[in-house]
Amino acid sequence: MRIAVCPGSFDPVTKGHLDIIQRGAKIFDKVIVAVLVNRNKSPLFSIEERVELLREVTSHLPNVEVDSFQGLLIDYLKEKKAQAIIKGLRAVSDFEYEMQMASINRLLEEEIETFFMMTNNQYSFLSSSIVKEVAKYEADVSSLVPPLVEKALKKKYAEINLIK
Ligand code: PNS
Repeated sequence: MRIAVCPGSFDPVTKGHLDIIQRGAKIFDKVIVAVLVNRNKSPLFSIEERVELLREVTSHLPNVEVDSFQGLLIDYLKEKKAQAIIKGLRAVSDFEYEMQMASINRLLEEEIETFFMMTNNQYSFLSSSIVKEVAKYEADVSSLVPPLVEKALKKKYAEINLIK
């Protein structure tokens, strides 16, 4: 069975992520979407919220699982008996960082391959940070994220504005 892991912060999942996950799921027998538990970052959504949103928006894909992980990605792949990492490449600006990651991961475990997919042109500018920046000012993000995520963003910023 060919298993791939699609890792990331997914804070929150965007239509760009979903496009990569869907395309990956056509190629691999199983795709595990793995949310990094990163204590150095201060995310908008908790790990549980990010995993739940991902589960909902991938529920139509029978061979996609959603999980969270800590530590080295390579160790997580070994634990899951996965052979590949899938990542989306948006622009040349992504290349240097992604090449560094793919190289260090190969150095750590040469049996694991990183597969890059060019992001669909319509999402080439899209990132979770951009989505949060736009949503914070209550602008329309419906073309950037699935409807459920749009709702979650509205709720989150309404809660934050109440606290202020
Ligand atoms: O969505 P992001 O934040 O760009 O995802 C980055 C991610 C999760 C793919 C990357 O930070 C990662 O793999 N972190 C786990 C730690 C690790 O294995 N680092 C690479 C070797 S030092």
